[in-house]
Amino acid sequence: MTKTLIITGGASGIGAETARRAAERGYKVAINYRSRSAQAEAIVAEIKAKGGQAVALPGNMASEADIVKMFAEAEQALGPITHLVNSAGISVRTRVAEYDAAVLANIFAVNVIGLMLCCREAAKRMSTKTGGKGGAIVNVSSIASTLGGRSGSSAYAATKGAVDSFTKGFATEVAAEGIRVNSIRPGMVMSEMTERRLQDPAFRAGIEASIPMRRVGEGREIADAILWLLSGESSFITGAMLDAAGGGYRI
Ligand SMILES: NC(=O)c1ccc[n+]([C@@H]2O[C@H](COP(=O)([O-])OP(=O)(O)OC[C@H]3O[C@@H](n4cnc5c(N)ncnc54)[C@H](OP(=O)(O)O)[C@@H]3O)[C@@H](O)[C@H]2O)c1
Repeated sequence: MTKTLIITGGASGIGAETARRAAERGYKVAINYRSRSAQAEAIVAEIKAKGGQAVALPGNMASEADIVKMFAEAEQALGPITHLVNSAGISVRTRVAEYDAAVLANIFAVNVIGLMLCCREAAKRMSTKTGGKGGAIVNVSSIASTLGGRSGSSAYAATKGAVDSFTKGFATEVAAEGIRVNSIRPGMVMSEMTERRLQDPAFRAGIEASIPMRRVGEGREIADAILWLLSGESSFITGAMLDAAGGGYRI
């Protein structure tokens, strides 16, 4: 079976690692990016140089019009979409007393509503009810959803809690239509989202001390778990939340 994967936020971090490793496993890969066109094109070139098929597609995953366009373009370039990884995401650090409604609306627009609309577009194409051949979807949540996040991250954690609830409900809805949907909950991982803070040795030591495995994760460790959830090796698993977090963390 031809495997065609869309990765939102695929130009950096966990999404980029997933794109590279998916191509190595024979997926055709559509790499969505918002601002990182050079990074996205570099990954496409890397994949093509190894004989794979990939395309870089711009799109703001907080925009319904961009999402609809991105799915149509991916399909036109690579064929029917069989797999989706929703990795696009942003974080904010703000105490509740300082919440700003526009900032909250934006983080929910990207992390939750955009992800849900990507799932809608994927379901329309994958569902055996509407002529599709089924498929698999992984939503990138966070271990923050389980504990409310570290200090200042309650809004971010709330978006990821919404991702987990949605994943469960969506998975049940489409389970008999050939679509599996799972979420992965990474712990602190070195990526563009976290590297600036992790460069502070005191911050990093505090984080590592709070994790049972006493280290932060790497993008490839999350990517491998995502690829397992996408693969036939997890064929009886849907509606699951897989923690990839070194054992979680203690606040
Ligand atoms: N790193 C961690 O410790 C960690 C832990 C748990 C969960 N996660 C989750 O893992 C996912 C990937 O994060 P990462 O760690 O790989 O960090 P990252 O490198 O910052 O990746 C996030 C990607 O999402 C893209 N993005 C943000 N807003 C977007 C939008 N509106 N439309 C399209 N793309 C957008 C970013 O591109 P632009 O910069 O161009 O916007 C970026 O390429 C996120 O959902 C994050 O919440 C990360």
